[in-house]
Amino acid sequence: MLVKVNNLSHSFGNHWVLKNLSFSVREREFVIVTGHSGAGKTTLLQVLHGARPLQRGEAEIAGYRLSSLRPGRLHCLRRELGVVFQDFKILPGKSVGENVALALEVRGMPRAQIQRRVNAVLRGVQMESMRDVPCKHLSGGEQQRVAIARAIVVNPKILLADEPTGNLDNDLSLRLVQIFRKFNEHGTTVIMATHNQTIIEEMACTQLIDLDRRR
Ligand SMILES: Nc1ncnc2c1ncn2[C@@H]1O[C@H](COP(=O)(O)OP(=O)(O)OP(=O)(O)O)[C@@H](O)[C@H]1O
Ligand SMILES: [Mg+2]
Repeated sequence: MLVKVNNLSHSFGNHWVLKNLSFSVREREFVIVTGHSGAGKTTLLQVLHGARPLQRGEAEIAGYRLSSLRPGRLHCLRRELGVVFQDFKILPGKSVGENVALALEVRGMPRAQIQRRVNAVLRGVQMESMRDVPCKHLSGGEQQRVAIARAIVVNPKILLADEPTGNLDNDLSLRLVQIFRKFNEHGTTVIMATHNQTIIEEMACTQLIDLDRRR
């Protein structure tokens, strides 16, 4: 199992967002997490990414048990993950290309190889012509595509994507989700939160986790 969640509960104050959630994900699955706005999709992905503490229950991801993972070792887990955050978290002062290259630079990849990978991924999300544009000048949908490019460029073991197409029209959304599908076929396990009904219907995921039905 690549991900194992057992009786996970999470609250903000006395508001329980996730309650006794259990599921497991095998290698190469394509999992969609859905549920109404406020159901806890982002919270779940944040816990899996180690961005929120594990409050109750157990969770293991990519071989790391979150309950016993020391903060100093969090970067080891994160090296296995590609993440698309709902609020992008891209650096506004840096260009499209620089934002995407960053994740490869911290991994120590040679410069020429970085350029090749960045260009290929930007082509995939149809942002190649904007490579040198500072991200602060981009539209919401363009920023979202940069966030997607940055997550997949590292060829992660697991891709955590939080509403990755929230700012895109349906055509582009489906095209980008097809990119996830391609990565998935090449071995990346995908866990994607969305409430886009078209994507849910078109994607033929291996597992649909509907948080509305799990409380
Ligand atoms: N830091 C926080 N402090 C207090 N409450 C929070 C915090 N973060 C999230 N919540 C609450 O937890 C609930 C779940 O939030 P979450 O962002 O996980 O939902 P979501 O399913 O991702 O929703 P959306 O579809 O709108 O993105 C919401 O009711 C939200 O208001
Ligand atoms: Mg959310």
